[in-house]
Amino acid sequence: MSESFENLWAALAAVGRDPDTGGYRRGGWTPSERAATDWFLDQCAARDLTVETDGIGNTIAWWDPAQAAGDRPGVVTGSHLDSVIDGGAFDGPLGVVSALSAIDLLRAEGFVPSVPIGVGAFVEEEGSRFGMPCLGSRVAAGVIPREKALALTDRTGLTLAEALGRSGIDPAGVGPSPLPAKMGAFVELHVEQGRALTAPVGVASSIWPHGRFRFTFTGEANHAGTTLMEDRHDPMLTYAMTALAANKQARLAGARATFGRLSVEPNGTNAIPSRVIAWLDARAATEDALQSLLGAITRLATERAERDGTTVELVPESVTPIVDFEAGLRDRLVGVLDGAPVLPTGAGHDAGVFSDAGIPTAMLFVRNPTGVSHSPAEYAEMDDCLAGVDALTAVLKDLAR
Ligand code: GLV
Ligand code: MN
Ligand code: MN
Ligand code: MN
Repeated sequence: MSESFENLWAALAAVGRDPDTGGYRRGGWTPSERAATDWFLDQCAARDLTVETDGIGNTIAWWDPAQAAGDRPGVVTGSHLDSVIDGGAFDGPLGVVSALSAIDLLRAEGFVPSVPIGVGAFVEEEGSRFGMPCLGSRVAAGVIPREKALALTDRTGLTLAEALGRSGIDPAGVGPSPLPAKMGAFVELHVEQGRALTAPVGVASSIWPHGRFRFTFTGEANHAGTTLMEDRHDPMLTYAMTALAANKQARLAGARATFGRLSVEPNGTNAIPSRVIAWLDARAATEDALQSLLGAITRLATERAERDGTTVELVPESVTPIVDFEAGLRDRLVGVLDGAPVLPTGAGHDAGVFSDAGIPTAMLFVRNPTGVSHSPAEYAEMDDCLAGVDALTAVLKDLAR
């Protein structure tokens, strides 16, 4: 089976797209993410790939025409099929569809890899449902204890264990998986998520250290009409001043700070809130810069809370250290691609988890002309996507020859 990239792309893009926003809500194990996964599994079956799925639902589909498998680790490519809330079409799926296309092209030209080539789809990469980015790859690599993973909750209070059960997946199977040991190398192709890449295709040097931090601002609920402004203990005010401070500190440091998620109690128009929970996503070029950014934001939040008569509590939910991709593999890709540009990224990826786990890992980026990502407006030109497929094909051929 072989299908043009354009047709494959159009087919997957139609799965679960919201007709109003043009975006996707493919949180892990939601109907829309399952539909995308089913589409992927159908494509694997149509290509006679050997599908291996681990306990949490990460999949690698192997192409092994020379029956080279045995104990030999393969060359794995691929990415993820889940999305952020109202995400775009490219973040994740571009890597999966490009991987299928690359195998079609290699097959069509009669290439026989000397090691298996695998197409990976790793679950809940965005952490948009359970709050933990790269959940599937982290569990597979044993970076998060299974008990901690299974106890994570979604916004309705459902635990991961319960959600898996409802999807027909036995939570008993969740834990370190046999897949990483079968990955002799991992190359993730991904849409670039800023405007830094001006050539059609580039190679990643590193991923910025980043983290998710939950701030709980607690004050005193009271009447919006009768409580004098000077009598209030308003946690929304403390939060708002913290958000402004975070923005300023990140600008000063050349870093990034975002409050993109908020929970307000009791969330009524005519009541001063009792509590505001706000999630900070912070990223910087170095570990020191990230730590000092977080330190500054926390200090300013605490000072503001004292003035407002509120309290602030900080819980780090996930912290991801810097990832420097293996220089040898990176340079090999650059060589195969005739000197493609090399660039760092502020976005997180399963590739970072696998790199940390000691697997030689690299990333290819496809140009993003607007730099928009994590939005329905995310976009890449078809010609650049096709250049990405060609680049991935050449890289796989080189690594699996
Ligand atoms: C995932 O794409 C992230 O960087 O948040
Ligand atoms: Mn993303
Ligand atoms: Mn992604
Ligand atoms: Mn990502």
